[in-house]
Amino acid sequence: MQNRSVATQPFDDQKPGTSGLRKKTKVFQQPNYLENFVQAIFDSLEDITGQTLVLGGDGRYFNRSAIQTIIKMAAANGFGKVIIGQGGLLSTPAASHIIRKNQAYGGLVLSASHNPGGPDEDFGIKYNVSNGGPAPEKYTDAFYQRSQTISEYRIADLPDVDLDTLGEQGDDNFSMEIIDPVSDYAELMQELFDFPLIRDAIASGAITLRFDAMHAITGPYAKRIFEDMLAAAPGSVINATPLEDFGGGHPDPNLAHAKELADTMFGPDAPTFGAASDGDGDRNMILGRNFFVTPSDSLAVLAANARLIPAFKDGLPGVARSMPTSQAVDRVAQEYGIPCYETPTGWKYFGNLLDAKKIALCGEESFGTGADHVREKDGLWAVLFWLNLLAVKGESVSRIVHDHWRKFGRDIYSRHDYEAVAIDIANGIFDHLREQLPTLPGQTLAGNRVKYADEFSYQDPIDGSVSRYQGIRIGFENGSRIVFRLSGTGTVGATLRIYLERYETDTGKHDQDAQQALASLIELAEQLCEVKKRTGMSAPTVIT
Ligand code: G1P
Ligand code: ZN
Repeated sequence: MQNRSVATQPFDDQKPGTSGLRKKTKVFQQPNYLENFVQAIFDSLEDITGQTLVLGGDGRYFNRSAIQTIIKMAAANGFGKVIIGQGGLLSTPAASHIIRKNQAYGGLVLSASHNPGGPDEDFGIKYNVSNGGPAPEKYTDAFYQRSQTISEYRIADLPDVDLDTLGEQGDDNFSMEIIDPVSDYAELMQELFDFPLIRDAIASGAITLRFDAMHAITGPYAKRIFEDMLAAAPGSVINATPLEDFGGGHPDPNLAHAKELADTMFGPDAPTFGAASDGDGDRNMILGRNFFVTPSDSLAVLAANARLIPAFKDGLPGVARSMPTSQAVDRVAQEYGIPCYETPTGWKYFGNLLDAKKIALCGEESFGTGADHVREKDGLWAVLFWLNLLAVKGESVSRIVHDHWRKFGRDIYSRHDYEAVAIDIANGIFDHLREQLPTLPGQTLAGNRVKYADEFSYQDPIDGSVSRYQGIRIGFENGSRIVFRLSGTGTVGATLRIYLERYETDTGKHDQDAQQALASLIELAEQLCEVKKRTGMSAPTVIT
């Protein structure tokens, strides 16, 4: 095996965002672009010689060719072994599990998550560390720094690897193992949940299931787990074949993008349970018959019922949510006397808390829920948790959530996204918001008295690191909140996210439509940030 050094020049835009480096595919396809970033990662890691790297992606366009390049670079940079998902496929949670199970040094996951894929769409790459979780900021900062000064990358003259045939090849210095992407993960799920009970509930017809894999990575996982292992009727998993462009769709599990599923679940003869996952398998959407569970509520319901699941039969040490996620889970934690941590947006902030066993369950409003079994959010895991819960309780999804609201109150919640806002306008909006912060506390706005108004900063309780500028929070005495944040995953202009939340204890009002219930807060948010006025947009691009 011959290694080569190839001269290159830095690109100035290789700064990882909320979840790795995400760009248009064409940007990644520029000569040396992928190679530079991968070399910047390898250069920033210590003692990689002889170590194992896990490699896989969500199957989107450019996945296979990027994998071939990375294998050759891993060899030239001294890794001893690369473990690759067959076909170049690994869901994000499965990659996390495989890193942990094999005590690998780390892993590279090729994905732009829920962003569309294809030659004119998005591609991405993220590095996960040895605990299986996304690289913390000190790593991603180092990758970016290194990418600014890089002058060469190293690559081995190896033939392309056959990604489709299982087995190990190579020699003592460098080997490549192609593994089944599903089996280890499916085995782990079987340890965490009561599969026989779920299987019985499905067999008896008590649970009927529809899962939308959105032509993305979870197709093969869902087929194996739901149809083969849990005996759901063939065809319960729809859009099950991963496609390079996700069938032209936007593989984001929400009511707008998982439309086929939503139509079924809100139509006649709906199954009792519906769910979907995203491009790389870490997100989830949960639906009952005629009923949508907000991700924030889902987290709270899972926390409240954790003891019913084998994995959590001894209870939870604590829980965590990202800052913009609704406060529903806080109420559960308070009731059970366990801590609830509020972290910045992005899964990487949960890693230390999970490693230190301060928490065992965590989630984000953005359709992300997960636990201590891996270090990523996990779409199918959340679906199995709900199935297990339905099988134990024998009640409908809607009934379980309504009972939860009756006990804890409902945090009526919505997120409004304004996409592709010009960067200078977005910065102007934040400057304008920042100017108002000192004057807001104590004022009564739209009938709500402001308790605090600040820019969120987080100090990690384990390693003491501080993350600043994590979004603007305006909290009211009555429990309502408005949060403003700029997305760290968008690839065009800026995306302004406005998170709105109102606490309702009156059971008679629990069935209100969220947009109506939040109308006065929505108007107030516009008065404060002026996004419509400044951009000329008449409505949010996406409402979830
Ligand atoms: C978005 C979500 C965030 C999630 C991330 C990766 O990031 O808001 O919760 O962790 O995608 O899935 P954002 O674009 O808001 O930075
Ligand atoms: Zn994802």
